Amino acid sequence: MDLHLSHPAIEDLKRTGKRNVPHFVWEYLDSAVGQEEARRRAETALDEVRLLPHMMRGIAAPDLSARLMGRDYPLPFGFAPVGMSGLIWPGAERALARLAAKEGLPYTLSTVAAATPEEVGPKVGDQGWFQLYAPADPEIRRDMCARARDAGFHTMVLTVDLAVASRRERLQRARLTNPMTLTPRLVIDAARRPSWALATLSAGIPRLKTLERYTDPNAKGSATAHVGYQIRTAPDVAYVRALRAEWDGPLVVKGILSANDAEIAREAGADAIWVSNHGGRQFDGGPPPIHQLPQIRATVGSDTPLLYDSGIRSGLDIMRALALGADFCMIGRAVHYGLAAFGPKGAAHAVSVLRAQLLADMANAGCARLGDLGEHLVSEAL
Ligand code: FNR
Repeated sequence: MDLHLSHPAIEDLKRTGKRNVPHFVWEYLDSAVGQEEARRRAETALDEVRLLPHMMRGIAAPDLSARLMGRDYPLPFGFAPVGMSGLIWPGAERALARLAAKEGLPYTLSTVAAATPEEVGPKVGDQGWFQLYAPADPEIRRDMCARARDAGFHTMVLTVDLAVASRRERLQRARLTNPMTLTPRLVIDAARRPSWALATLSAGIPRLKTLERYTDPNAKGSATAHVGYQIRTAPDVAYVRALRAEWDGPLVVKGILSANDAEIAREAGADAIWVSNHGGRQFDGGPPPIHQLPQIRATVGSDTPLLYDSGIRSGLDIMRALALGADFCMIGRAVHYGLAAFGPKGAAHAVSVLRAQLLADMANAGCARLGDLGEHLVSEAL
């Protein structure tokens, strides 16, 4: 099957993905918090950014290569951390790491992944980033950082937009409780998707493997994403400074929406700022992250790398974020829609769709390279 014919856009992968995984798994992947306004607005605000094409430039083959924190990438996007990817597809973390290594794109392994840095490191080659949900105990923090570094992860991402668990009402409606218990209802959900159920059973029920060393494996709830809250704290500026002092590679602070916070994170030692609303999964009352980008860029200046995520569903969305001040985009759900639809092949297809769209849209907007994208192209946006 030629997936470019049957699934030419991310929305096609989303539709098939929803049909292929159990209801509770879909709800875990797709949901956001509250009325899901923050998540919807992140997407619609991107849709509303209009870029004015420049004609008669003879540009047929744009150069999509990007440079970020001293490294070169063939494309201006990578993989955002997604906890428990392995729930969506067995072995997803290793598969995505392999894909990232093959494509030469960064892969961010979550603290609450279903695979450890030791397992994923050998697959990800030189493209490994590690995402940290701030452990309260500095000893645990140091141990996790050492494990990530020893496994070859060179860039540390501290997520700061998850002070406490959000309610995620859709998960409760799907009876995905915290901690998760395999109730008859979940078992029935799973049985309706036999290929997912069989693959998951043979690979083993996904667990929060990285955290097992720090938590009581017999404690109630140790098999859920939420066991992370047992060891986690809400990071403050002193926390960023402490991590900066301990981590000798690039440090990225993820989950920034205000220019002031970006400046504070930079002063505390962040090498790059990751503008994000966590895909709308934490706080439903905020502005669309894309609206915040220009002011954050103006505040931190041109030398601080800015990453952007939330709501990216096409190559055009990547162009829009780069035009409004980002250097690089990170992709959360879009790649996982591919995983849910077709496993690793679907994730690779999602990357291929984004690349093909970006190539065509750059050329049709008259942009020869990513450096041509800027606010001068934005004809209507904010
Ligand atoms: C996430 N995200 C996330 N972020 C993080 O820092 N650590 C994590 O463990 C997770 N886990 C996670 C699980 C799932 C199922 C989703 C959808 C998202 C947030 C993620 O890194 C990113 O910020 C958003 O996914 C970006 O929005 P889009 O691309 O999904 O719209």
